[in-house]
Amino acid sequence: MAAASKTTGEGWSSRRAFVLAAIGSAVGLGNMWRFPAEAGANGGGAFVMFYLLCVLLIGLPVLLSEVVIGRHGQSNAPESVRRVAEESGKSTGWALLADIGVLGAFMVLSFYCVVGGWVLYYIGVFLGDIFTTGIVGGAFQGRDPAEVEALLPALFGNGALMLGLHVAFLAITFFFVARGVSGGIEWVATWLMPAFFILFVAITFYGAFTGGFDEAVSYLFTVDFSALTGPVMLAAVGQAFFSLSLGVAGMMTYGAYVGRDVNLAGTSGIIAAADSAVALLAGLCIFPIVFAAGLEANAGPGLMFQSLPRAFQDIPFGSVIGLLFFVMVFFAALTSSISLLEAPTAWFKDRFRMPRPIATGIVAGGAMVLGGFAAWFFGQPVPVVSGIALFDGQDVFSVLDTATSRILMPIGAIMTSLFVGWVASRRLIDSENGLSGGLHHTWLFLVRWACPLALVVILIVGIFPSIV
Ligand code: PHE
Repeated sequence: MAAASKTTGEGWSSRRAFVLAAIGSAVGLGNMWRFPAEAGANGGGAFVMFYLLCVLLIGLPVLLSEVVIGRHGQSNAPESVRRVAEESGKSTGWALLADIGVLGAFMVLSFYCVVGGWVLYYIGVFLGDIFTTGIVGGAFQGRDPAEVEALLPALFGNGALMLGLHVAFLAITFFFVARGVSGGIEWVATWLMPAFFILFVAITFYGAFTGGFDEAVSYLFTVDFSALTGPVMLAAVGQAFFSLSLGVAGMMTYGAYVGRDVNLAGTSGIIAAADSAVALLAGLCIFPIVFAAGLEANAGPGLMFQSLPRAFQDIPFGSVIGLLFFVMVFFAALTSSISLLEAPTAWFKDRFRMPRPIATGIVAGGAMVLGGFAAWFFGQPVPVVSGIALFDGQDVFSVLDTATSRILMPIGAIMTSLFVGWVASRRLIDSENGLSGGLHHTWLFLVRWACPLALVVILIVGIFPSIV
């Protein structure tokens, strides 16, 4: 079943390819790095439960809305929205929602590849360790734990290395996107996602025998309702959105390459379920190893890059497990960065009628510069935003993160749900979404009321955090 899109002539070769690519987009650093760090920083169980609720009630309905628009429009995201609006007899100005998304994708791509660079760095570190101390015993033998934890700050302090790693990760992403949907993006997804899952299950299994497993389970699944504060809820919603790749036109773009015979509701359910399962398992993979080494759960962003390498010191075959772990994270991150590069690329390619490799090169070049600033000036506050409360004291990296997760992603998602719920023709949407009966009514209620209202609250609180 070839599903070539009307405009682009490109498409997934099968439903399986779409499912793998979309899961590849969703599963990434958000699951492996951000989720355990956020869960740890926000008290564990209460955060996890609320996160799952957000995935089900807000994330999934918006995800379905995005792929519905994409498949109907069969084009790059803004053009797809324009077509749906036109066929519904409504203003094509709604395309703005996807313009915002495309911009958001470009900004997320820029800082995402910086973190991708750190993953490459740790692959190098563990490889080097295997060559110097062998595979038996723990990683970094003979080195002080403090020395291992100091690797990350040392990396952060080295602007040239940060820049080089960022460019390397971006170049790998570019290579596959430039080759096209079925030739590049699909190829990576169909090979790397299964490889990711095998490594992931193996390491989680290993973690289960390290002694910290019971502690990890009770940490992640014991819900203390008093811990469910405003900031915890906000963090959970933001995490659900980031993890499902929503609000940045990515899923809309992938939806345009899907064949007519695919049931979008069922497929979206599979994508959301797989993404959440990986996030939970990432917790069950990382926390046992961290707990077994007697380390704390609330290390935040340093959890994966600092605590975990330190924990690998204490476990048998630590350097091999460490290497495999970071290779696995690399696979997950690459399939996500590919989707981030694809959304602006598809738009550029159609808008300016240029060959794919050139469009890919222009977008990647822009991300190289913007992300280059984020990498080079990591940790150094940006003077121009110092008066703005939301960004005060932040470096380029954090400004990009905050601007996208707190502003652009929620706005994109609010507009998407309003557009699908109220503006687009009911007949058109109903013929695409693959839902019927009670489920259809529930979805409609969620996109019409629950999602926009919840998201507006999130947007306001996100911009004025002092309210909660
Ligand atoms: N969902 C990806 C992750 O969890 C990140 C991402 C966000 C990818 C937005 C595409 C669009 O790592």
